[in-house]
Amino acid sequence: MDLKQLLYKENYSAEDIESLLSLRDKESITQLQNRANEILNEYAGDSVYYRGIVEFSNLCSLDCYYCGIRKSNKNVGRYTLSGEDIISSAKWCAEQGYGSVVLQSGERSDASFVEFVEDIIKEIKTVTISEKLPHGVGITLSVGEHDKETYERFYKAGAHRYLLRIETTNDTLYKKLHPDNQKLEERKQCLEYLRETGFQVGTGVMIGIPGQTTAMLAEDILFFKEQDIDMIGMGPYLVHNQTPMAEEGQMDKDPLLQLSLNMIAVCRIVLKDINIAATTALQAVVSDGRERGLSYGANVTMPNITPTEVRSSYKLYEGKPCMDEGRQECKSCLLGRVRSIGRDVAFDQWGDSKHFAARIS
Ligand code: 5AD
Ligand code: FES
Repeated sequence: MDLKQLLYKENYSAEDIESLLSLRDKESITQLQNRANEILNEYAGDSVYYRGIVEFSNLCSLDCYYCGIRKSNKNVGRYTLSGEDIISSAKWCAEQGYGSVVLQSGERSDASFVEFVEDIIKEIKTVTISEKLPHGVGITLSVGEHDKETYERFYKAGAHRYLLRIETTNDTLYKKLHPDNQKLEERKQCLEYLRETGFQVGTGVMIGIPGQTTAMLAEDILFFKEQDIDMIGMGPYLVHNQTPMAEEGQMDKDPLLQLSLNMIAVCRIVLKDINIAATTALQAVVSDGRERGLSYGANVTMPNITPTEVRSSYKLYEGKPCMDEGRQECKSCLLGRVRSIGRDVAFDQWGDSKHFAARIS
């Protein structure tokens, strides 16, 4: 089948997806990118939606072999922001016209953490109500695996989107990345709970993990499709020096970037009306990485609004950008980046996944 036919197919097999992910010559990549943009415009529109991200705590009870804030990394200064600081960050976001926030942290399942998060959600929903945002700022949570009751509490408190990356759907690779007590099946179960609870569900994978093949990435995309996922956040795997995975190294930057961009384009082509984030890790590979992600079919990006004092303690991988900047600098920097590629930000909107609206109607 020629490329043009492949780009306009109705249903994609694993082999189709794999061949799209493997495109490398300039001409084919341009066609891939053009098709992704065509679908973006048709199914999601070309607006870019902001989610201001507050990395509110780096305490983590998990020990993922790739992650800089894993429990066993004793070199990290641990912090948890006060409720007041988190709420004022969210308030600042709403005032800037960012319609949504992401509250992200390491994973903890103790009762006091759950209560803390629940209270903060409620408070943010109250204090961010305005004429422009009559229901307050949209809240996405990214605080890991929990039982269904906990997810229900978070949802009732007012969060309406949840991000939980599956990281990889390949069981062998998953086991290589995680200790025995962290199970792929349990993570899948959590995605199920989130969906049943009523959340808009986001997931994603790391791209270019040592041992990962394009066939595995193709299966990941089919998993997103089968699970009817609403949002995708994925990015290149990058080494963090103080982790067990560091000795295996990482992909060279050029192929890593291209593979990551191809993943975005192919997700757009196969999944159509979902939200896809141009993630911060892309910018760690190349300085205009997030703009490139947007130009391959992404429609969401996340300005960092974490207070500067703690940013460097939330380092998941080497080379994470914006470590010394403040929220104000990220605000103007990112807006310039979005506009540099001829796109614009839709302010004062939640920017919900169109896929979610379609699947509940
Ligand atoms: N490289 C890239 N992404 C990483 N994450 C964690 N560690 C790394 C790394 N070394 C991602 C995981 C996680 C998200 C919060 O950050 O995908 O789900
Ligand atoms: Fe943070 Fe550019 S986005 S400084």
